[in-house]
Amino acid sequence: MSQARAIQLESESKTQQRLMVQEDSRQQIAFTSAYTKDYSQPVLAMSEQRLRANARGFMAAMPRVRTHFAVKANAHADILQIFKEEGTCFEVASMAEVDAMLELGVDMETVFYSNPIKSPASVVYGAKNGIVWYSVDTPEEVTKIAAIKPDAKLYLRIEVSNEGSSWPLAGKFGASPAGVEAIIETAKSLSMQICGVTFHVGSQCSNINNWVEGINAAKVLFAKLSGHGFVPELLNIGGGYPLQFTGEEPTIQEIGAAINKELESIPDNIQVMAEPGRFLVGSAGCLVAQVVGIATRDEARWVYLDTGVYGGLLELSLEFPMNMISERTGEAGTWTIAGPTCDSIDVMGRHKLPANTEAEDFIYLPNLGAYCTTCACDFNGFPTPVMHMVD
Ligand SMILES: Cc1ncc(COP(=O)(O)O)c(C=O)c1O
Repeated sequence: MSQARAIQLESESKTQQRLMVQEDSRQQIAFTSAYTKDYSQPVLAMSEQRLRANARGFMAAMPRVRTHFAVKANAHADILQIFKEEGTCFEVASMAEVDAMLELGVDMETVFYSNPIKSPASVVYGAKNGIVWYSVDTPEEVTKIAAIKPDAKLYLRIEVSNEGSSWPLAGKFGASPAGVEAIIETAKSLSMQICGVTFHVGSQCSNINNWVEGINAAKVLFAKLSGHGFVPELLNIGGGYPLQFTGEEPTIQEIGAAINKELESIPDNIQVMAEPGRFLVGSAGCLVAQVVGIATRDEARWVYLDTGVYGGLLELSLEFPMNMISERTGEAGTWTIAGPTCDSIDVMGRHKLPANTEAEDFIYLPNLGAYCTTCACDFNGFPTPVMHMVD
C-alpha cells in the first residue's frame, strides 16, 4: 500500500472514531435528559446495560485475564452487584471497600488489597475478613504485613512508564529496581512470600506500550524472584484502560490485542488479572448539571455550574479530557468553567460551550461514571451529584 493511501485510511478511521464518540455522547445524553425535569441537584445517570456491556467487552478483549473491578472508581452497591453478576472479581483499597465486599457476599479470597500503603488497622481488618493477597512496594509494607498476616501472599508493585496517561500514578507508587532488591531482601528475612508482580500504567492511558513494557518487566522479575526461591503465581496488569473522549484513544480491542500477544510467553501456571476501574464504569455514567450564572470579567467569560471540583469534577481541574455539551445550540464560545463554591481552586479550565449560554441552561458531561460521585463532598453546602440507575 502506498504511504498516501495508508495516511488516507488512517484519517478515515479517525474520522469514523470521532463520529462514534459523538454518537456515544448523544446516547448518553438520551438516557440522562429525563432528569432535567423537576431538577434540584446534579444527577449522575448510570446505565445498567452499559455497565454490563463494558464488563463483557473488557473480558472478551482479554480472555486470559481475570477482571477485578477497582471499587474506588464507583463503589455504589448496585454497580458492585451488577459486576458480580457479570462474573468480575474485585480490588479494594480501604476498610470501607472491604465492608462493601462483605456486604456483597463475595468469596473474600478472591478480593485483592491493591493499595500499596495500608494502615496497620486495615491489614488487620483485611486479614480478619479473609483477604489473602496484599500489594507491596516498599520494605516497610512487607514488615508491616509480616507482623499481622505472616501467611499473606504479596504482589510486588513495580514502577512503569505512565507516559501518555491523563492521570499518572508514577512517583507516589511503584518500586524502583533498587526498591525491588530491598523488598526481596526484607521478604526473605521475614519468611514472607512474594507471589506476584503488579504495575499501573496511569489512569486514562492512551499509550499501549506502557502495558507491553510492564508485562516484560514482570517477566524479568519473575525470573529474579524464582532465583531467590519464591514461587511466582500472579501477574496483575492493573488499571488505566481509557474511555473514548476524542476517538483518538486506543480501543479496548487494540489494547487487548497487544496485551494478549505479550501474555503468550507467560507460563500457564501464572494467573493473570487486571484491575479496570474507569473503563468499566466511566462510559455508563452521564452527569447533568445546571448553569448557576455567567460572568464577564474583563475579556474573559465565565460559566459557573452548580457542581465543580468539590462536587465530583476534580479531574477536570487538571485538564483531564472532557466533553461538555449544552442543551442549547448555537455558535460555540470559549468559557472558563467554575464550580459554585467560594474557593478559587474550584475552576475547571476553559471549554467550548454556546456563546449565548445563560443561567439555568442544562449541561451534560458524558463519561463521568468513574471518580465523580466517589470524589464529591458537599463543601459550602452545595449538594453532591446524586446517582440514579437507568436501564
Ligand atoms: C491499585 C489500583 N488499581 C486499579 C486502579 C484503577 O485504575 P483505572 O480506573 O485507571 O482503571 C487504580 C486507580 O487509581 C489503582 O490505584
